[in-house]
Amino acid sequence: MIIKYTAPLRGELSIPGDKSISHRSVMFGALAEGTTEVTNFLTGADCLSTISCFRQMGIEIEQKDTNVLVHGKGLHGLRAPAEILDAGNSGTTVRLLSGILAGQAFDSVINGDETIQKRPMKRIMTPLAGMGADVTSVRGNGCAPLRIHGNKLHGVHYDSPVASAQVKSCILLAGLYADGVTSVTEPAVSRNHSELMLRYFGADVRTGADMQKSMEPRTASSDKSSAENRRGFTVSIMPEPKLTGQRIHVPGDISSAAYFIAAALLVPGSELLLKNVGINPTRDGMLRVCREMGADITLLNEDHSGAEPCADLLVRSSHLKAVEIGGDIIPTLIDELPVLAVLAAFADGTTVIRDAAELRVKESDRIAVMTENLSRIGCPVEAAGDGMIITGGKPLHGAVIDSHMDHRIAMSFAVAALACTGETDIQGAEIVNISYPGFYEDLARVCR
Ligand code: S3P
Repeated sequence: MIIKYTAPLRGELSIPGDKSISHRSVMFGALAEGTTEVTNFLTGADCLSTISCFRQMGIEIEQKDTNVLVHGKGLHGLRAPAEILDAGNSGTTVRLLSGILAGQAFDSVINGDETIQKRPMKRIMTPLAGMGADVTSVRGNGCAPLRIHGNKLHGVHYDSPVASAQVKSCILLAGLYADGVTSVTEPAVSRNHSELMLRYFGADVRTGADMQKSMEPRTASSDKSSAENRRGFTVSIMPEPKLTGQRIHVPGDISSAAYFIAAALLVPGSELLLKNVGINPTRDGMLRVCREMGADITLLNEDHSGAEPCADLLVRSSHLKAVEIGGDIIPTLIDELPVLAVLAAFADGTTVIRDAAELRVKESDRIAVMTENLSRIGCPVEAAGDGMIITGGKPLHGAVIDSHMDHRIAMSFAVAALACTGETDIQGAEIVNISYPGFYEDLARVCR
């Protein structure tokens, strides 16, 4: 894919559905009784992997473009898959599904593509083992394929060393099948879509009193028993709820909007309206950092009436300055750090990103891969163990970019290309289909 500057970004764009919420709508819909009707579902390859895994376990799912009907069979309605479950490239599918599979009355094996087979799974195997689950890494290397022998599970409390929504959600889902309450404490708040949606389906999910106001339960009073006494952010779930099928309209994915926000900020003369984007406070760190960099972003038509808040984002090109990004904000922008690094490359001054060691275990080692590719376009950048130091403001040039088959790297450099001189050649460009089918077409449509 060759990309070069053509024109400012103008007009409006509807961003495809949120990947995290789309996955969960199918998973929880499958475990609910009755039909769940999903609109604006993300048809990216990752979410299609989740659909096919549940079909393999006997759940009837009708999908027509972004409309999905999940005919749920209740908490105990899944049937043993005849074949290995294939999660493709999707870490969310492997980790969340493992929590569900651990408590079934059958055995299963879950695997995925080459990338998935390198991603760490001990982070879920350890807490699941503490609940009495029997999950083994087939090759003994702490990665997929995972063999899961369904077991009776115990409710436990788990202090997670990482702020990871995938780890937290895996434990909460196993907690649906436990013999008592299950709780997780994480060092900083990670995305809370599982908590919000499980509650929407009828589960009793409680967050600690020390959590942000926005994360408080809507109906139940907060769990003061133990959560308040723990450091960090605690969420608990009661076992064996009756989940009921729901209607879910998936908001636009802020992680996908991020590329258009960045492109509109960088290309002079741009003014772009991004419609119906999710602005959940556990996901909006990019907006906060961009504003600190001097970005002109206005929220219009904010809607807080549903489980997930959303708004239209009006983005105008802006002169950006360097910032420091670290601490508790990291989980709220973890997937946006590659494109934030691109913004830093064009901002005045030196940007420091730290506390982001999790980047090393994403679809690629995003610290190494961003450092390699930013250097290729002429940006002075240094990798650190848990982040990057980026010196911005120098004119940068097009180059050959290696996406390392990581969708977020490909899209980040498609954005960088618009602000570089000359042409940029993105290798492995088609990987954007993981989270944003139609990304290049949408980009071409608004550059006019
Ligand atoms: C996700 C959580 C994040 C994120 C991933 C999707 C989810 O991973 O990077 O793209 O849907 O729960 P971690 O929870 O491992 O940080």
